[in-house]
Amino acid sequence: MNLNLKKVSLTILIAVNMLVAAAPSFADDKIVALTNSCGACHGENGMATNNDWPSLAGQKPGYLLAQLNAFKSGSRQNILMENQLTNLSDKELTAIAKHYSSLPFVKAEASAINKAGENVRSACLSCHGKNGKTVNDTWPNLAGQNKGYIFQQLKDYSSKKRESMLMNVIANELNEQQMRDVAEYFEQIGSVQ
Ligand code: HEC
Ligand code: HEC
Repeated sequence: MNLNLKKVSLTILIAVNMLVAAAPSFADDKIVALTNSCGACHGENGMATNNDWPSLAGQKPGYLLAQLNAFKSGSRQNILMENQLTNLSDKELTAIAKHYSSLPFVKAEASAINKAGENVRSACLSCHGKNGKTVNDTWPNLAGQNKGYIFQQLKDYSSKKRESMLMNVIANELNEQQMRDVAEYFEQIGSVQ
């Protein structure tokens, strides 16, 4: 091989490598299409823009998948989530859960901590973790989650609109002010993660 030919083939090799690196894999393409409609409420990067809606970024994958299945089957109901998942397969739901779980959770540091909420959280630590981050893949992190959303979930668990053997009992022991305080506390500690 003469020198010129070597140079040419090296250039081609580099060009091909760059192409491969730049082209999104099929899976990436598919996940963008699958989650396109979710961004309107859950944010393009999984960070909800509305305080009453949940962020999904960094959430536990097993927990997310269980919730997706619950919405799909109708065992968990919410008017805004209705029909969002109807046509998605098990495989697609698993990919969606994995996708959101892998996204970085980004939240600005809170300027203060709700002290009353900090007192309530001792009843939550054993499952949701010391910093609102659980070690169990099928349980939810609470750190940084939007307070309006957390508060509404506690109300829904308490009234059993949302069913969970554990949370129905726990939420029932909180009064409304404690729900508000602990919701704010968990949102505020979110920048820690
Ligand atoms: C029109 C707004 C809207 C759209 C679009 C939407 N969601 Fe939701 N989603 C919500 C709301 C509101 C809730 C909270 C429901 C509740 O209070 O029970 C929610 C809850 C969830 C939860 C549970 C989170 C948790 O912490 O328990 C998951 C997972 C989820 N959505 C995934 C999706 C996916 C995936 C899509 C797209 C295929 C999607 N959502 C589209 C509004 C929306
Ligand atoms: C014994 C374990 C346990 C304890 C203690 C516990 N939780 Fe939970 N929590 C869970 C599990 C499991 C779930 C998921 C339930 C489901 O599938 O709906 C959950 C779900 C939640 C959710 C819904 C999160 C989401 O993304 O939708 C909130 C909010 C919550 N817990 C708040 C609290 C608070 C506040 C406390 C303390 C006052 C607490 N939990 C104590 C186990 C626990």
